[in-house]
Amino acid sequence: MDTIKNYIATHKERFLNELIELLKIPSISADPAYSKDVLKTAEMVEQSLKDAGCDTTEICKTKGYPVVYGEKIIDSSLPTILVYGHYDVQPPDPMNLWTSPPFEPVIKKTELHPEGAIFARGSCDDKGQMYMHVKAIEFMITNDLLPCNVKVMIEGEEEVGSDSLADFLENHKEKLSNDIILISDTGMIANDVPSITTGLRGLSYVEVEVTGPNRDLHSGIYGGAVPNPINVLNKMIASLHDEDNRITVAEFYDKVEEVSNEERAEMAKAPFDLDEYKKALDIDDVYGEKGFTTSERYSIRPTLDVNGIWGGYTGEGAKTVIASKAYAKISMRLVPHQDPDEITELFTKHFESIAPKGVKVKVTPHHGGLPYVTNMDSLGYKAAAKAYETTFGKTPIPERTGGSIPIVALFEQVLGSKTILMGFGLDSDAIHSPNEHFGIWNYLKGIETIPYFYKNFTELST
Ligand code: BES
Ligand code: MN
Ligand code: MN
Repeated sequence: MDTIKNYIATHKERFLNELIELLKIPSISADPAYSKDVLKTAEMVEQSLKDAGCDTTEICKTKGYPVVYGEKIIDSSLPTILVYGHYDVQPPDPMNLWTSPPFEPVIKKTELHPEGAIFARGSCDDKGQMYMHVKAIEFMITNDLLPCNVKVMIEGEEEVGSDSLADFLENHKEKLSNDIILISDTGMIANDVPSITTGLRGLSYVEVEVTGPNRDLHSGIYGGAVPNPINVLNKMIASLHDEDNRITVAEFYDKVEEVSNEERAEMAKAPFDLDEYKKALDIDDVYGEKGFTTSERYSIRPTLDVNGIWGGYTGEGAKTVIASKAYAKISMRLVPHQDPDEITELFTKHFESIAPKGVKVKVTPHHGGLPYVTNMDSLGYKAAAKAYETTFGKTPIPERTGGSIPIVALFEQVLGSKTILMGFGLDSDAIHSPNEHFGIWNYLKGIETIPYFYKNFTELST
């Protein structure tokens, strides 16, 4: 399959330009003001699947944003790979921190991407990584090298919790039936250290509201004599971790999988440079649960983080006021075998129980998702590992990541299929942050590696 290298060399300008067109559309699923753009992106993705040579393509309605579907079935006796990705993106703010506008893609060189990287919201998460699959499929179909059947589903609500997808899977079990699911929506350790993601954390996301007096008050006239909801909320939040940085929510750790010492020793072999890590983030020390290393803290351990907190006066200058209400958004990352609904319930009970007299608290659940792990002896893992060996000349390292893709556990529950996570982004690509980017080298390496997965998986399965 040397032809893939030639094909990329011939078409790389076009591959880049097509991705750039897709990145110009602000498909921000969180903000209803962009709904037309989200729908337009779905149409562009459908067209790209047609152009790649899919026999059938379709924009499937859901109760939210549509799922774009395409397939090429060559022989029903051969294996079927289902590709999943998402065409929606995170909001770009804070806008003032972008060095170029988020929806006007530009190519710039960086230290880690000397060949250049495309700077734009969604370049890595997930338009760029999703589009690697479209181009790999184009290559295989055009050159008559597609060894098995392929189905593609690209959704538009991943960044807001994939709310419509459970129903979509239930209603289209037959259409989506497959032997393995393939996703590029994670990262790898470094360009010269390929890795395969073997675990994702789950998620429970809640919003809390603390109400004190029935109206905003003069902080001199009333200050010190009434519960200040912002003071109270901060005290409550501070109490959610103990002095060992363990979460104090009752029963929170009861179902957490204890990873064996052997497995922890195995994981510790993955290259990780703590000094580099601190340097890249400009922090002089790390922080986290006692008894665990940094890479354990973000992969095999559950966490609780405030994602946003607000209330009172935040405008110019000073206003002396005690606000009536204070709010926070809190995410909890979960590990096997924690259940997001159960954790949300435990959190709610705990949070209500620690509220002092004089305030009312309300906890509203947002989205959630189950954690996921795969093992290394599956055909899918072997096929992926061999593909990386071919294109990187190195055996990939299995690595659990801290991020979440809630649909992956659902795929297993509803469709009974395992997922292989072949991510080509780097942690430093700034997904969800200003100046998100995706290395051109990574984009093309993904396109090069994917066809080998198809070949290996088909050979190993038949
Ligand atoms: N692609 C990410 C998840 C990811 C990124 C996993 C890097 C591992 C490494 C995905 O788009 C995402 O952002 N997921 C959200 C959860 C979702 C329910 C909003 C997350 O992890 O915060
Ligand atoms: Mn993503
Ligand atoms: Mn994301």
